Amino acid sequence: MKILVAYFSQTGNTEKIAKAILEEASLSHEAAMRKIEEVDPGGLSDYDIVFLGGPIHGGGLAAPLKGLLDQLPASPSYVLAAFITHAAEAYRRENFEKGISYIENIARDRGIRYGGCFDCTGKLDPALWSMVQKMQKLSDKEWEELMARVGPHPDAEDEKNARAFVRKVLAP
Ligand SMILES: Cc1cc2nc3c(=O)[nH]c(=O)nc-3n(C[C@H](O)[C@H](O)[C@H](O)COP(=O)(O)O)c2cc1C
Repeated sequence: MKILVAYFSQTGNTEKIAKAILEEASLSHEAAMRKIEEVDPGGLSDYDIVFLGGPIHGGGLAAPLKGLLDQLPASPSYVLAAFITHAAEAYRRENFEKGISYIENIARDRGIRYGGCFDCTGKLDPALWSMVQKMQKLSDKEWEELMARVGPHPDAEDEKNARAFVRKVLAP
């Protein structure tokens, strides 16, 4: 089977998961990886399975990921599977749930076979800390504890879970 892993990653978290997905898929199949900006939505029909990923930005899917999903042609031959990283512990759980629903709705409305979505936490860009801390009304101590929990992700366990997701999608 031919597999493509396409992703958008601003700060490297989703890229780490994309690499784990590529490595796992490459064990048994011909697999390639591309940044979303390099992907032609019409050209995806060259593949049997497309893993498409990106982060949550501002309460929904990051614009480059949403942009590609919006352009996917109807009834393609490939199976679409998604992967998302987010900092829902610092924001809101609804944000990534909304993102996942967006992907599910696109798949349903366009008749795209859907293999599900993997998600995990990704550390938050320090440039956003003070804004998000204020938004969540957290004390310095609470924020420090939260960032200590979120900071190590995606970790080895997240990568292991992403690999297990790939095996599930690829299972006959
Ligand atoms: C501009 C911006 C907005 C973000 N908004 C959200 C959000 O609304 N909800 C959330 O859970 N995480 C949010 N995050 C956190 C990212 O989703 C998380 O850090 C993700 O792992 C980043 O992935 P990347 O390193 O592949 O870019 C935001 C990050 C950035 C940079």
